[in-house]
Amino acid sequence: MINKKKIKSAFFCQNCGCEYTKWHGQCNNCNKWNSIIEELVVKNESNSLVDSKSYAIKVDEIETNDELRLKISDNYLNELFGGGIVCGSLILFCGEPGIGKSTLMLQIALSTNKLKTLYVSGEESTNQIKMRANRLGFTSSDCYIMSETNTEKIFDQIKKISPALIIIDSIQTLNTKSIDSSPGSISQIKENAYLLNNLAKQCSMSVILIGHVNKEGNIAGPKILEHMVDVVLNFEGDKNNIYRIIRSKKNRFGSTQGVAIFEMMSNGLRNVKNPSEILISNKIEKLSGTSIAIAIEGIQPILLEVQALVSPAIYGTSQRSSTGFEIKRLNMLLAVLEKRFGFKLSLKDVFLNITGGIKIDDPSIDLSVVISLISSSLNISISDKFCFTGEIGLSGEIRPSPRINQRILEAEKLGYEKIFISKYNKPSCNHKIVVSKVGTIDQIYANLFKLN
Ligand code: TYD
Ligand code: MG
Repeated sequence: MINKKKIKSAFFCQNCGCEYTKWHGQCNNCNKWNSIIEELVVKNESNSLVDSKSYAIKVDEIETNDELRLKISDNYLNELFGGGIVCGSLILFCGEPGIGKSTLMLQIALSTNKLKTLYVSGEESTNQIKMRANRLGFTSSDCYIMSETNTEKIFDQIKKISPALIIIDSIQTLNTKSIDSSPGSISQIKENAYLLNNLAKQCSMSVILIGHVNKEGNIAGPKILEHMVDVVLNFEGDKNNIYRIIRSKKNRFGSTQGVAIFEMMSNGLRNVKNPSEILISNKIEKLSGTSIAIAIEGIQPILLEVQALVSPAIYGTSQRSSTGFEIKRLNMLLAVLEKRFGFKLSLKDVFLNITGGIKIDDPSIDLSVVISLISSSLNISISDKFCFTGEIGLSGEIRPSPRINQRILEAEKLGYEKIFISKYNKPSCNHKIVVSKVGTIDQIYANLFKLN
């Protein structure tokens, strides 16, 4: 098979996948130390596993069919892909170990209507996959299962079965003969993704690659894969909590606005139909340090409970800890409170927690964070009928939140009596809920805490 061998070695950063011609102590791209490792790359010159017919064609002569999308039984996921999975697309689905990637992908493989699917696992045996499929409660006569890591053998089976959708669990376990480095190395990942991309495009088969993410949130070789694939989906959530969120980071065939929220049940992952309320704990007593933020994730309004604890730093050096909210942003908000409003927080321990274990990107939860911090520090509770939305600027001004009408209507729908928004927002909807417009933290402080 090998016509001409070209032996070469290259140096790859095992953290970010950056390639170098010689060894360096620190990666210039991700600044990580001692992450650059030499990989032997034995290249088989004729390594294309699919025959290619390349020629140029006039754009008018290309026949397209917009309907060429695979529909899976889960409509939320179809929407996330932009109306179904485009035939011939390469999708990267990444998340931390144990989050539920294999579970969700097996559900997809088993639920594609009347289309052949092939689920290849390099991590589990066919028996183990069957056990999981039984547990999920899906049955499909068109789903093929294969436990294999050798790329050439997988391609043989693909040619034989010719499935419409192929799921590779995971790209890090694949091993092609044309590269002489171990599975999981950057050059292996790169080559296998390249081969699968060619296959997807030439045979019009859709391929989903599962990618493990390391602790820092990088996939081994992420930049290489992200450029190459058509769609990048991130699967996030706290393993100890039941909620999971899928965000689309890149989509060549649809918007990246959408999110899908799932619950991990004993029989697999199920859609959350009304996600706006799930993250609110139904507490009986009113406690200080808690407030409700109304955020938008993609196009979906979500209400969150923001809890803060501010207490004297007994060991001298104060601690700051945050779960579900960026610590740098928390430090910025603390600095704004200290500098602009004279809250002496430098000698206090500050703990912040967003309930539910889902990390929300929307900066308009800032206002609720600040309110929770003040509430905890003064030990004055906030009514659980109030909710907040607004981003805080460096001078303490409350900035407008996008999609304000949608936020107000959602808060009203869920029975809140008052919503605090930025005075620069101009809501145009009809609503019964009281809308309180505030320009600075001072004003909201006077409104909420001084009158108590
Ligand atoms: P898995 O899909 O194997 O994770 P990944 O492929 O991302 O590493 O799922 C791991 C966790 O999901 C496992 O710890 C248990 C939980 N789980 C359920 O709660 N219910 C189920 O039906 C299944 C299959 C898994
Ligand atoms: Mg897995």
